Amino acid sequence: MVGLTVLILAAGQGTRMCSDRPKVLHELAWSPIVQHVVNAAQRLNPEKILVVTGYGAQQVQEYFAGQAITWVHQERQLGTGDAVRCALPLLQDCTGDLLILAGDVPLIRSEILQLLVNAHRQGGERLTLLSTTLPDPTGYGRIVRGADGRVRAVVEERDASAVVRTIREINSGVYLVALSCLAGWVNRIGNNNAQREYYLPDIVAMAIGEGGVAVIHHEDYESLGGINDRSQLARAESVFRARKVAELMAKGVTFTDPGSCWVAADAEIGRDTIIAPHCVLGPSVAIGANCQIGPFCCLEKCQIGSDVHIEAFSHVNGAEIAGQSSVGPFARLRPGTVLEQGSKVGNFCEIKKSRIGAGSKVSHLSYIGDADIGRKVNIGAGTITCNYDGVNKHKTVIEDGVFIGSDTQLIAPVRIGKNAVLAAGTSASKDVPEGALAITRSPQKHIPDWHERKKKT
Ligand code: UD1
Ligand code: CA
Repeated sequence: MVGLTVLILAAGQGTRMCSDRPKVLHELAWSPIVQHVVNAAQRLNPEKILVVTGYGAQQVQEYFAGQAITWVHQERQLGTGDAVRCALPLLQDCTGDLLILAGDVPLIRSEILQLLVNAHRQGGERLTLLSTTLPDPTGYGRIVRGADGRVRAVVEERDASAVVRTIREINSGVYLVALSCLAGWVNRIGNNNAQREYYLPDIVAMAIGEGGVAVIHHEDYESLGGINDRSQLARAESVFRARKVAELMAKGVTFTDPGSCWVAADAEIGRDTIIAPHCVLGPSVAIGANCQIGPFCCLEKCQIGSDVHIEAFSHVNGAEIAGQSSVGPFARLRPGTVLEQGSKVGNFCEIKKSRIGAGSKVSHLSYIGDADIGRKVNIGAGTITCNYDGVNKHKTVIEDGVFIGSDTQLIAPVRIGKNAVLAAGTSASKDVPEGALAITRSPQKHIPDWHERKKKT
């Protein structure tokens, strides 16, 4: 087995982003740009992944805390060639090939990388680079080929003649290099060019001189584009989104208007579920089969069973929703919410850190926080759990079969016993025994002829 090590270049500031944040930490589909590159690299099972950081190194390393990455520090950003030079001491014990990736090419797919590895090994080259043809190659290094079709050089935009600038085949910034050759080439890179930078692509000319370079052209240019400014970031986001939605549609999910929905990479959705237009499904969303998600819903970190209906404009974050339940429209489920089988949360209800038992209903205009609600409970319109006394949060327990009338307050800590009834308008500050009716309403008085009396004054 030939060894494979990965080196990701991520030390640049990303001047064209006009940002205080290092470019590679800008987010694409809820993860930093460079995380996507690391993910693609990991799928190849390399021996080691090294990442070169420099600008905002601490921030980048903090983000990756706990992930198996070897850090390389590049003190000053003198160019991609210099970045690789900084990694040489850490590569001394590695054998086989080094896959070099740019930290700002996040849509790269591991299938393409595997093709590159295979082609490099079959061809027996010392250097293989990946190219593609872009509709607009502005800003990229161009692949200059001779009349025989063989690569002659890689020329950066700023060093290119008008003729070279018309070439649309570009260097993707992905290289596979025999580690036995790397140091010899990289140490010879100079900075005699328009940007006074050490250019990694200069190793191409060296490898040609030593008879061993191949360029693998891949047609999927959308996966090979770099992110240098915010327009490219937005374009990458829409490519990513289209890819993910297409993958889910292929598995039997309906998107009524695929172009309007945003879905994180790890979303799992069951067959025959229908996602209406303008839904945003953030990280860690799992939805079962046969569900309907209405328009303009935002879901994040939630597990949803099968046959669940979530109506328009609902916001769900950190909730578990069991099968046959219904939510919304205009519902907000906050972290720690558990809706059991066949339960219902209707319009303008907010639920936080609470369990709603099987078959129970919170249908209108309520706030339920820190509550444990049993089975077959009915919560009337405008019910509020007063869970916070200004210092601490307290719990409300509502046992099975309870009926809570409209416009009630449950002043926690409080327990409503099984099958009890709270009359409308009640403020319950004491526990209610099982089966009892609780009522705190003040008696209704009538003052006769009020209308006539008002006229006389
Ligand atoms: C580079 C290539 C270009 C290629 C393009 C593909 C060079 C000189 N040019 O251009 O041929 O078409 O990528 O996207 O390599 N970096 C460092 N340290 C540095 C400079 C850069 O780690 O000193 C990192 C950056 O963080 C970035 C990557 O290297 O992730 C590429 O650098 P960037 O400045 O974006 O190069 P491009 O101009 O895009
Ligand atoms: Ca770039």
